[in-house]
Parts: sequence; structure tokens; C-alpha cells
Amino acid sequence: MTGAAIPSAVEVADLRREFTVGRGAAARTLTALDGLSLSVGAGTVHGLLGPNGAGKTTLCKILSTTLLPTSGTARVLGHDVEAEPREVRRSIGLVLGGDRGLYARLSARQNLELWGALYGLHGRALDTRMTDLLARVGLSDRADERVGGFSRGMKQRLHLARGLIGDARVLLLDEPTTGMDPVAAGDFRDFVGALRAEGRTVLITTHDMAQAEAVCDQVTLIDRGRVLTSGDPRELARELSGGQRVEAHAVPEAVAAEIAGLPAVTVVLRTDGGQLCVDTASPDTTREVLVRLARAGVSTIRTGPPGLEELYLRVVGGRKMRVAA
Ligand SMILES: Nc1ncnc2c1ncn2[C@@H]1O[C@H](COP(=O)(O)OP(=O)(O)OP(=O)(O)O)[C@@H](O)[C@H]1O
Ligand SMILES: [Mg+2]
Repeated sequence: MTGAAIPSAVEVADLRREFTVGRGAAARTLTALDGLSLSVGAGTVHGLLGPNGAGKTTLCKILSTTLLPTSGTARVLGHDVEAEPREVRRSIGLVLGGDRGLYARLSARQNLELWGALYGLHGRALDTRMTDLLARVGLSDRADERVGGFSRGMKQRLHLARGLIGDARVLLLDEPTTGMDPVAAGDFRDFVGALRAEGRTVLITTHDMAQAEAVCDQVTLIDRGRVLTSGDPRELARELSGGQRVEAHAVPEAVAAEIAGLPAVTVVLRTDGGQLCVDTASPDTTREVLVRLARAGVSTIRTGPPGLEELYLRVVGGRKMRVAA
């Protein structure tokens, strides 16, 4: 990591969080965070990736002071979440997914108004901010409708606006694009880019590796409450031995299907622009993919290090449907 030059906005050291689950004789301790340490450079976009139950949301809750750690420390812009929760809350904007935290019977604007009031905003300043944010998330036309009638993706956009109402320097986005259509998710990338350009720090959890690859300066892969690996996604992927990414244009569907069926082809993606991305786990397979593309007359081919999805599968892989015990 190049963390030395960039002061950290979020500093987590040896963080533990346990929950007691089950009752009576069946009660047991579940460790959601198991000595997790993490540093997020100020002004960077940091991806927190990992399987269901890895501890991502638990970390977001601790950083936003809605949950206390069992032990260890977490600081936001130098403020300790336990000792200085008010300062931390002032520095942080939290965006959760789903229906949580929105009032169905109020309009989008009224929801923002309520939230803005919590940050001490009112009058013209609040109005201007709400209008600006509703426009940024593409909800200007629907601002005065009840949120109960919103689609999932529209609610998610409102969550984003809500997270920004207090003008927080550090944003925690927990699966912010769940339920968004591909165009909205594309807009979201620009949205995160704009947040970074404004000098904000963004910690984002997502299961969408293509998105993480597109928006994150750094990623941390976690599982069972521990860090597996952390760093620049492109550099991490480059360190994967043997694997490569092959990108090609105008690949006939039948050839793409054939390639997808090759052993040691781990990921096959079609990008919005019709490009085919293939990640392989061995040089032999890379050669085989290139041969098949050449045979099919495909001439626009590029090779490089594999993508984040390949990294994720290799580092976290083998979990199947199992979640943390
Ligand atoms: N309030 C709670 N009570 C009991 N266990 C909890 C509680 N909150 C979280 N856990 C447990 O902690 C572990 C981590 O959960 P967490 O929600 O942080 O995972 P996650 O990485 O966000 O997963 P997902 O990708 O599914 O959102 C899970 O095993 C979960 O069951
Ligand atoms: Mg979660």
C-alpha cells in the first residue's frame, strides 16, 4: 500500500465483535469481526469485499457508531468511535441498502428534510442541498411522491442522497447499488468519481466485482471477520500466478460459449460495449483461448493481468453456499 503519503480517514486496529446467538443451553458466541485491521486513505475509494456473513455490515455499523466493538479500536478522521461518537457521526454518512431507514409514508423530499434536520440543517440551506442531491441521484421528478411507491432502485438512490445530506467527509456505502438497473449502476460509477473529486473518502461494500474494479483505488477482501488481502486491485490481480485476462471484440456467440466451457477458464464477462473478457487460471488455457479467437477470425485481442473477480474467486473461493459458522 502507498498509505504512507496519504493520511488515513478510517483506521481500524484489531477490531473484534462478538454476538451471542441461540438461547439457553444452545447459546453460543459468534465472532463477526475477528481482529480486523484496516486503513483507508483520505480521499480514496476503498472496496470492502467478501462473502455473505464476512463481517462487512458489522464493520460499517461500528464505524457509524450504531454498534459498539467488543474490543479493538476504530477511528474516523482521528476520532475514536467509542470515546468521541458525536464527532464520528458528524464525519460520516452511512448508506445502507433496502428498506431500512426510509419512511414509506413520507415523500423523498420529506425523508431528506427529516434527515437534514438531524444534521442541524434547515431553511434555504437545506432546500438547496435537497434539490441538488435529488438531481444528483436522478429523483427530481419524483421528489414529492411517497417513498412507499418507489421501486427498489429508486429507494436505493434516495439512500445515497440521504447519506450525503450532512455533507460528510467519509461515506460508508453498504451495498449501495443493490437493485439498481445497469444504467443506474453506470451512473453510480460517475457519482462515486464525483465524491472522490470532492475529496471525500468512500468505503464501499459490494458483491459486484466489475463495479469494485471500476471505482476502487484499494480493495480489502475479508472473510470470517479477518482480512485475507488488501491493496490496489490491479496490483493484487497481477500477483496471481499463471492467470491472465484476455479481452476481445466482436467475438461470435458460439465461440464465446466454447471458450466459457474450457477448463481453467474461471470468469467470462460481456461488457456493456460488447467486449468479451475471459480470465484464465493457467498459461496453457490462455494460449487455448487465443488460438480459438484467432481461428474465429477475431483480431482485436488484448491480454493483461486477470480482473478482480478472478482474485476474489481465488482468495475467497471454495466457500460455495456456506456462511460463517
Ligand atoms: N445483531 C446480530 N446478532 C447476531 N449475529 C449477528 C448480528 N449482526 C451480525 N451478526 C452475524 O455476524 C456475521 C457477520 O454479519 P455481517 O452482516 O457483518 O456480514 P456481511 O459481510 O455484511 O454479509 P452480507 O454480504 O450477507 O451482507 C454473520 O454471521 C451474522 O449472522
Ligand atoms: Mg452486509
